[in-house]
Amino acid sequence: MELKKIIVIGCAGQIGSELIMELRHLYGNKNVIGNGRKTAPSEKVLESGDFEFFDVTEKNKLFEACKKHQVDCIINMAAILSATGEQNPMLAWNVNMNGLINVLEVARELKVKQVFNPSSIAAFGPSTPQDNTPQETVLKPTSMYGVTKVAGELLADYYVQKYGMDIRGVRYPGIISNETLPGGGTTDYAVAIYYDAIKYGKYTCFLKEDTMLPMMYMPDCLKCTIDLLQADYSKLKHHSDFNVGAFSVTPKLMAESIRKQIPDFTIDYNIDFRQAIADSWPNSIDDSAARAEWGWKPSYDLDAMTADMLKVLGEKLRKR
Ligand code: SER
Repeated sequence: MELKKIIVIGCAGQIGSELIMELRHLYGNKNVIGNGRKTAPSEKVLESGDFEFFDVTEKNKLFEACKKHQVDCIINMAAILSATGEQNPMLAWNVNMNGLINVLEVARELKVKQVFNPSSIAAFGPSTPQDNTPQETVLKPTSMYGVTKVAGELLADYYVQKYGMDIRGVRYPGIISNETLPGGGTTDYAVAIYYDAIKYGKYTCFLKEDTMLPMMYMPDCLKCTIDLLQADYSKLKHHSDFNVGAFSVTPKLMAESIRKQIPDFTIDYNIDFRQAIADSWPNSIDDSAARAEWGWKPSYDLDAMTADMLKVLGEKLRKR
């Protein structure tokens, strides 16, 4: 589908901040509008195109921004993640559920052509098969974040079948990136470890050494998001709940990968409440539906990502 005007809700965040620049590159700066609540987006996001400050829970402001810019695609990257969600469950419910229903209602009212709303591996729970977790499986999460992600998948699919809308989404694994820090997630260790490896040569991890989780490097995250946005909708059997995998890793394996580049790197452990969240999530993901329906294929494995992360962060941190 030819999209003309896209708004990225939540583009001061880890994924949104990079996704918006990639979309501006593809669709033209003036055709991709940014949004954030109060966290200042980066200068390059502010300077390269339009930006609207509002909270996704403020439906009228969302409506007015979409109407003013005549958007035909809403990408909803505003969310409270798993760890913050356990500390403040009502905030997670409010932002994740009321934000999403506002997006869906505004899209319905303005006849917006396409909506992208991400889900997460947090949609799974302790009773889900943990290895090679299937596309269709038990969705009984034990975190509030996970509850909102399952409800979000169901709500999005409801709008698809009730109103014939085009709504898409993937279950992101932990996303590892070097531009904007993640905030409030359980997989955040997998970003912090690289910063600390360069700055201090050591890292204290809040998850146990053998905690296996599915992860993905940002270039693959951008690729899967944009590939799904651009996929032929008539060929999709699933809509807002695609499993997408890249690789699985434990803190210990990640430390070993870093040691290939920084031999003196050391890791120790100070486990906190995030361990219980991580223990409820899968070890690895079966993403054959995404591969079959829209050609998903990741590019980075652990060592390729580590080499790139350390190179980019090394340059960035040395400049300071
Ligand atoms: N990165 C997220 C989190 O840790 C998972 O979707 O909460």
